[in-house]
Amino acid sequence: MMNIIDIIIKKKDQKELTDKEIKYVVEKFTQGNIKDYQMSALLMAIVINGLTDEETISLTKYMVLSGDILNLDNIDNIVDKHSTGGVGDKTTLIVAPIVASCGCKLAKMSGRGLGYTGGTIDKLESIPGFKVSLTKEEFIEEIKNLGMSITSQTENIALADKKIYALRDVTGTTESIPLIASSIMSKKIASGSKKLVLDIKVGEGALIKNISDARKLANLMIKIGKENSMQVVCLLTNMDIPLGNNIGNSLEVLEAINTLYYFPDTNLTRLCSELATQMVSLALDIDYDEAKKRVDETLRSKKAYNKLLAFVNDRNGDITKLPKSKYFYQIKSDKEGYLSELSSLELAKLSMHLGAGRKTKEDSTIDYSAGIIINKNLNDKVKIGDVIITLYTNGEIPQIDKNILFKIAENPNKAYDLIYEIIK
Ligand code: URA
Repeated sequence: MMNIIDIIIKKKDQKELTDKEIKYVVEKFTQGNIKDYQMSALLMAIVINGLTDEETISLTKYMVLSGDILNLDNIDNIVDKHSTGGVGDKTTLIVAPIVASCGCKLAKMSGRGLGYTGGTIDKLESIPGFKVSLTKEEFIEEIKNLGMSITSQTENIALADKKIYALRDVTGTTESIPLIASSIMSKKIASGSKKLVLDIKVGEGALIKNISDARKLANLMIKIGKENSMQVVCLLTNMDIPLGNNIGNSLEVLEAINTLYYFPDTNLTRLCSELATQMVSLALDIDYDEAKKRVDETLRSKKAYNKLLAFVNDRNGDITKLPKSKYFYQIKSDKEGYLSELSSLELAKLSMHLGAGRKTKEDSTIDYSAGIIINKNLNDKVKIGDVIITLYTNGEIPQIDKNILFKIAENPNKAYDLIYEIIK
């Protein structure tokens, strides 16, 4: 007879758990027969002592089996993307219409709040009228008709992960490479795509703080993918500064629309172009240069821009009525020089205080119009009195120490590295 106390002690003693033991833990915890305090103890033992790749593969398998599994095998050219969560990360809103315009089928289940800022579903929900949640049938129909669909993740996808993740969030057990890998991959496998591009964010504003952990996570997710007949491509990308200029839900939608229309020379455009190229190459099984040509063409011809409008329209959203906040507040430079640093972490915290993110998981109030626009780009020349960032809110402007948000230096900073590595 198996019992949870023996399993906790085994992991505490740095021993490898068997496939049967992991199955027992996942099933019993999902059914409510292992208590939260027992699961918390096991999770902490895992954070400290780790899991072998085999244990991680077993954990992923049973988390997939704990809920619904979508089968998309009868739709051609299906591809999915996932970001481990970044500040100002609105890439899905830009990349999805690009790849759909290239003939791929983007099937994506997204979440709400990620840390300090909103998730893709919060961003879409900031569009008045937009229906974020589809049935399985509607999801498949939209993929077939439009070439893309983004829906809120159903309660039943990787049910065990949902319960375990909620517990990790409140027990200091989020920062574990095998737990992160199994959590993300279980949801992706259950969502039905066999091809996946992962954007692993690295830096102070991200879950993964250094490149060597990012590499470990990438290789582990690729391995889990292989075990599940899934091809995975990982981009390791910079999250020391925010992605693009806007942080906050409706502000990010606005930036996504502008990026598809004007494709300005920003870190956001560059990353979206790279992600889309990798996705098109993977989904259509064509080489990188050919995929890049197709991606560029959808931007130039405005096909991708029109695809985003068609998608919003299909969901009854009205992009002309994005909410605007009552108050704005400009933060200006009191020095001359160059914008040498922007802190993604501090800007994300400030954005949450302005109302753009949830303070706790249960927090249902989110101000869709709140957020920040960064009015200058990194390394831009700055004069005294220039506006560096503008805050938007319907509430009060919090106390601000601008020195922690950005730095003005005599000289520009070293070259900014956006994409560190691509691992396949
Ligand atoms: N995102 C997830 O879904 N799970 C994790 O563990 C971390 C980020």
